[in-house]
This record gives sequence, C-alpha cells and structure tokens, in this order.
Amino acid sequence: MSILEEIQRRRIFGIISHPDAGKTTLTEKLLLHGGAIREAGTVKARRNAKFAKSDWMEIEKQRGISVTSSVMQFEYNGKVVSIMDTPGHNDFGEDTYRILTSVDSAVMVIDAAKGVEAQTVKLFKVCSMRQIPIFTFINKLDRQSKDPLDCMADLEDALGLPSTVVTWPIGNGLTFEGIYDRLENKVFLYRQKNGIIELGAKGVFGDALEGVISQANLDILRGEMELLDGAGNAFDLQEIKAGKLSPVFFGSALADFGVTAFLQHFLEWAPAPGTRKTITGEVHPTDDFFSGFIFKIQANMNPAHRDRLAFLRICSGTFNRGMTVTLSRTGKSMKLSQSTQLMANERETLETAVVGDIIGIYDSGNYQIGDTLTDRKEKLFFEPLPTFPPELFMRVHAVNSLKAKQFQKGVQQLAQEGAIQVYHNEFNDIILGAVGQLQFEVFEYRLNNEYNSEVRMETLDYCVARWVNPASVEDVKEVLPARSTLVYDRFERPILLFANQYTLNNFMQKNPKIELWEALNLDDSEYQEG
Ligand code: G4P
Repeated sequence: MSILEEIQRRRIFGIISHPDAGKTTLTEKLLLHGGAIREAGTVKARRNAKFAKSDWMEIEKQRGISVTSSVMQFEYNGKVVSIMDTPGHNDFGEDTYRILTSVDSAVMVIDAAKGVEAQTVKLFKVCSMRQIPIFTFINKLDRQSKDPLDCMADLEDALGLPSTVVTWPIGNGLTFEGIYDRLENKVFLYRQKNGIIELGAKGVFGDALEGVISQANLDILRGEMELLDGAGNAFDLQEIKAGKLSPVFFGSALADFGVTAFLQHFLEWAPAPGTRKTITGEVHPTDDFFSGFIFKIQANMNPAHRDRLAFLRICSGTFNRGMTVTLSRTGKSMKLSQSTQLMANERETLETAVVGDIIGIYDSGNYQIGDTLTDRKEKLFFEPLPTFPPELFMRVHAVNSLKAKQFQKGVQQLAQEGAIQVYHNEFNDIILGAVGQLQFEVFEYRLNNEYNSEVRMETLDYCVARWVNPASVEDVKEVLPARSTLVYDRFERPILLFANQYTLNNFMQKNPKIELWEALNLDDSEYQEG
C-alpha cells in the first residue's frame, strides 16, 4: 500500500458527551466491532480492578478513574481508526479540550431521554471553533425517549447545529421496533437479531414493512418521513465535511443496536487527516518532511524518574524509531528512540508510523504542550493550541516555607506541562485555575509526591475568566467591580476573574471599550515567561 493510501484510510476522532450519555458503552462497542477488545466490559474495567495493573498514577488507582486519556486504535473495513479518549465525569479537565484540538472529527453521544446537556454544549463549542465534522449518535433508544423530532429540534436550538437524519427510530421505549436507514433504504429490526428489511423504490411508503412492524409505528414512521423529506435538511457530504451539517443516527449502545450502521457511515464520511495550519502557512500530509505536534503530556509513568509520555500527532512524513528531529521551540535536536503506539490496553514499541497516527514519546522534561517536532531544515511551528478559560480557582501556598524552592519548581513545571493554569496577582499570591476539580487534586498529589512539597489550597469564589487586552489594563484597574480580580498568567497576560456570568455581563455592559477574550489562540512563543 502506498503512503498516500495509508494516510487516506486513517480516521482520528474523539467522543463528546455529557456524563452517563453512554460514551464508554459506545466506545466499547466500537472497539469490539474493530476486534480491539475481546470481551465487553474492558473499557469500563479500566476504571475498576484491572486498572490497577497498569502503570498509571496512584491517584487514578485510588479513585478508580482515568485522569489522563489515551488513544485506542483498531482496524475496521480497511480503515485504521484512532479513538481519542476524552475524559469526562470528574476527570474532566483541560486535557479534554486539548484532545479535541487534535482530532479530525467528533462523535457526539446524546441520551435520547435527556437531549443536549451542559457538558455536551461546552465540548461542542470547542469542536465547532475548529469546524470539524460532528456526527451525532442519539443513544438509549431501547428505553423510553423524547420524541425523535424533539431531539432533532434540540440540536438546532441548544447548539445551533443544522442536522440531517441518516438513521431514524421506529417506535419508542416498549414499542421500539428498529431503525430505518434512509440512505441505504433499509430497516434493521430490533427484536429479530440480524433482521434486515430491504425497502423497494417507494421506501417506507411501499409495502415492505406492512405486517412486519406494527401498523401504528408504520403510520408514525410514514408521517415523520413526509415531514423530514419535506422540511428536514437534505444529506450533503460537502456540508458534513465542512462541519456545517451533522449526520444524525439513533441507536442503543448497550444493546449494540444501530452501532454498525453508524460505524460504517461514519468511517466512510469522516475525513482522513488533512492539512494543518502553521504560523506561516500549511503542512500537507504528503509533504516529504516529518512533522508533528504534542497535544498532551502524561506524567508519572515512572514516579522515580519523573518520566512523562508526550503524545504526538503526526502531520506529515513518516516516523521511524531512532530518527532525529528538531524541537522548534528550542532548536534542540532530539533523537526519538523510545516510542510507543497506544492501544486499548497495552503499549507496544513502535518502529514506524504515518500521518494520522498518534505516537507516545518518552519525555524526561523536554517537551511542552503545543510543541512542534520536525526534521525539516527550515523552522516550523504549528498553530498554537488554544487556551481555554478555567472555571475553578484556588489560592495555593507551600506549607513549609523552607521548601519554597521545590514548590516554585513544581508549580512552574506543572504549568509548562499544561496540567493546570498558574496565575499570580499583584501581591504575588499564586492562583491556580482549572476547568475540572480533579486537576487540583492531581496538582496537590504531584507536588507532594514528585516535588516533596506539601501545599495548602483555598477555594476562591470566581468562576468566569476572560483575558483582557493588555492595552486596557490600567483602565481595568480603575473600574474593577466588587467580586472580581485581576491576575496575570505565566506569560504576564492579564486576566480578569469574575464571581459569575452576571458580574461579567454587567462589566461588559458598563465598559464596552475594554476588550475581553474567551479563548486565546496567541503564539505563546511571542511571550516571555514571567
Ligand atoms: P458515559 O461514559 O457517557 O458516562 O456513560 P456510560 O457508557 O458509562 O453509560 C452510563 C449508563 O448508561 C450505564 O449504566 C450504561 O450501561 C447505560 N447505557 C449506555 N448506553 C445505553 C443504552 O443504549 N441503553 C440503556 N438502556 N442504557 C445504556 P449504569 O447502570 O450507570 O452502569 P452499568 O452498571 O450498566 O455499568
């Protein structure tokens, strides 16, 4: 197979959902279809006893969750599929956001009884910022659900996302009888395993379903199809690939129903790795030099050595173990001799990899999130990964002031690694910012264990952060409202923290000239660390 064909058959995606919508169950079913795991329950088991076998950090074992996400790769229908595990639940953190900046498409899992929920909205925003295609899987159809037309309306109302129906449920809850694949013109029957009805030219309006499903369901289905054919969005692959239209599928991950139809369509329509933007231009997958960027660093693979694993997404060229590349930020030459491929449950040493593969590189502290590695002679920097505003804040200090040095070093390194955001105010208090509570726990644990520094943390009553145009800082100081504060990030960029959305809105109304930014896509290398 040529390199181009190898690239064309790769798919990298992440799953976004609100906790309990069924992300884990769907992931597991996808891996089962791909033959990557043999028994159901493996993904979940990572959270339980089996997990303790792996070499992840102690805190993960204690809490029985995965702090840091991994990549699962499998082959299906000739495609090489990588699912990036995007941590949810309590382990939701900045990692979750960053992973979404490195995927080519996303699958959005929605609980059919609940519709679009809060965390889905947040993650959706990150995906839509990058205009990546989003495939919607409406789950738990085996249970009583919302009206499917309401589910569709919900997508438009809550997310502003136009959608197009690919598979559609027949019946609801106790009367659920199957799904209709509009594009394949087939019905998959729920109760009869492998029961597939090929519909004729007239689709659901012909007689193929007469006597096969209940008359009541058939009448409803026909009514719904009339409506969707007339008023729904037509299928348009261009729009899907441009991230402007989401194909919608219904099914039950638990019953493994509707999953095959979803997987087949998804792999066909989801994009292969494409061009990636750099600061000065673009890198194409077929460019003859090797390049990639680091989107995640997993710490503590071996606590004794402070080893870390850097996750690199290859954007052009071929990776060969032992190759020498340049770390663009420092200009240093690096030999990539220890590399692993990341699979569902094990790691294998990897000799070669192509565009669209994710590799893990052992790191003794050289890499930072967003770093570019390349063997091109001329300098190359991929566009910086966006920084997202934290929503939780803590003031932190070392319990033992004699250990201030270790404390400072730990704080600086964890900030560089992207484990947590670190700010300071004018009194030089250190303030931590995170998008998930667990980031604080990990911070405290690691400072204690890796840097031998015990810390005291105190919750601060802010939950909204906005970067401020540095030119307006003096003005901001004049008009700083109650229950807000001004801090600086590690590049000395000013940030305003507000107690709530209301305080922020009020501030914006009163000070329309002060420019505030929600996400930063600035080139960090322009900034000197403070
Ligand atoms: P998450 O990763 O998005 O948080 O969700 P997860 O897959 O863990 O699923 C959350 C709960 O919903 C689980 O039940 C799971 O079995 C159930 N579930 C997932 N998909 C479906 C589905 O298609 N139909 C139905 N009826 N249930 C589904 P649990 O009781 O919390 O856990 P467990 O005891 O089953 O493991």
